[in-house]
Amino acid sequence: MPAKKNTAPQKETAEKTFTFTNDQTGESWQFPIVDGTAGPSVIDIRTLYENTGHFTLDPSFTATGSCKSRLTFIDGDEGILMHRGYSIEELTEKSTFLEVAYLLLYGDLPSKNELHDFTKSITYHTMVHEQIHLFFRGFRRDAHPMAIMCGVVGALSAFYHDSLDIWDPKQREISAHRLIAKMPTLAAMTYKYSIGQPFMYPRNDLGYAENFLQMCFGVPAEPYKVNPLHANAMEKIFILHADHEQNASTSTVRLAGSSQANPFACIASGITSLWGPSHGGANQEVLKMLEQIGHKKNIPEFIKRAKDKDDPFRLMGFGHRVYKNYDPRAQVLRASAHEVLHDLGINDNPLLELAMELEKIALEDKYFVDRKLFPNVDFYSGIILRALGFPDTMFTVLFALARTVGWISQWKEMMEEPTLRIGRPRQLYTGPAERPYIPMNKRK
Ligand code: ACO
Repeated sequence: MPAKKNTAPQKETAEKTFTFTNDQTGESWQFPIVDGTAGPSVIDIRTLYENTGHFTLDPSFTATGSCKSRLTFIDGDEGILMHRGYSIEELTEKSTFLEVAYLLLYGDLPSKNELHDFTKSITYHTMVHEQIHLFFRGFRRDAHPMAIMCGVVGALSAFYHDSLDIWDPKQREISAHRLIAKMPTLAAMTYKYSIGQPFMYPRNDLGYAENFLQMCFGVPAEPYKVNPLHANAMEKIFILHADHEQNASTSTVRLAGSSQANPFACIASGITSLWGPSHGGANQEVLKMLEQIGHKKNIPEFIKRAKDKDDPFRLMGFGHRVYKNYDPRAQVLRASAHEVLHDLGINDNPLLELAMELEKIALEDKYFVDRKLFPNVDFYSGIILRALGFPDTMFTVLFALARTVGWISQWKEMMEEPTLRIGRPRQLYTGPAERPYIPMNKRK
């Protein structure tokens, strides 16, 4: 069945070329330069090995484009982030999370009717199979919520057999809707499980963020009224985390998907990749760090440690592979942190004050200036999430919930390409050269 997909890649027909020359032999080869809509053009080296007998070496992918994509554009020098051509600032201000989800999945902002139908479909899928409730009981109550998420999201593939045919566009769409709909339910269940409260069922009369807050903070014993300010802040946080081009977790999802794994398994792989402190796990680490710093007077000591190459400590929530300017998401969250805390009546938040002072000092320090290290999305998000009542261990789960939209949109885009080939990087082998086998009685 999938055979039709495994055809060889189309070669680019390009007018511009890039010439590689082997200085030792004098041989040279030309490779097409391909332009995108925006951003640096790429050298298409897909025939490099076939022509030259060489691979490239780029272990952390600092100069490697892994795919073509129409979803998200980042200009790291200018601090620009756009989804399908719309700026993140405008989307955060004017759109709902489900509108952004539709935009990422389908390419354009939805009409009124399209949004209505999409919302209806997402709402329809918010419940999880009742057996999944039992699945949770296998976990320790003190398990990290991300550990539970890795398990339960992967387990969805054991429950929704009717949408696992990755070659059927309709089934792909149902899986995408299921994932977007069920992530808040599962995320809320991990929280409820950790505090020993009963799971709350989703409520279809509420908006996406409202329903999520209701499932986290409501209890069956009494009606729960969602604070619109909380729902608004939550919605903003979801939008800001929805997609971010070919980052570690998204690349993990695409790579898993390239082997024709089912979408639930692919998203579970994205969750594992997101968990690390260099990626989505940084939001939890930022608060830990701010608490460790404790007082403004201690900031210089921590800045000194962050600059010391013999000390593994880094300023969490600072620096980014792509942004060499202020992360635009951090800009929005910085303002949002003030708004939310003010609206909640928290006018002196020592952690926010500490974060702002740390940011100020770091942004003036030569080490951070020279390396273009600016606050990233994780720097301020934890402060807002804590003010909303979430424990620190839930921060990365909320990131995963929102990023599911980006992961599944990227997966869908990859599956819609006319060719799908398994992702298979090569390596520079540096182990021993071939050597004779040593029998046991001759080994030292
Ligand atoms: N604190 C101190 N120094 C830093 C920091 C930091 N947060 N980030 C980078 N540097 C320094 C490095 O030591 C290195 O210095 P050198 O050139 O003297 O060796 C230089 O800046 C470049 O850093 P790299 O690690 O090479 O940058 P890379 O692009 O590989 O890493 C990363 C990016 C992982 C985000 C890094 O900046 C970091 O660890 N930040 C802290 C964790 C964090 O906030 N992660 C969230 C990222 S956003 C997201 O995923 C949602």
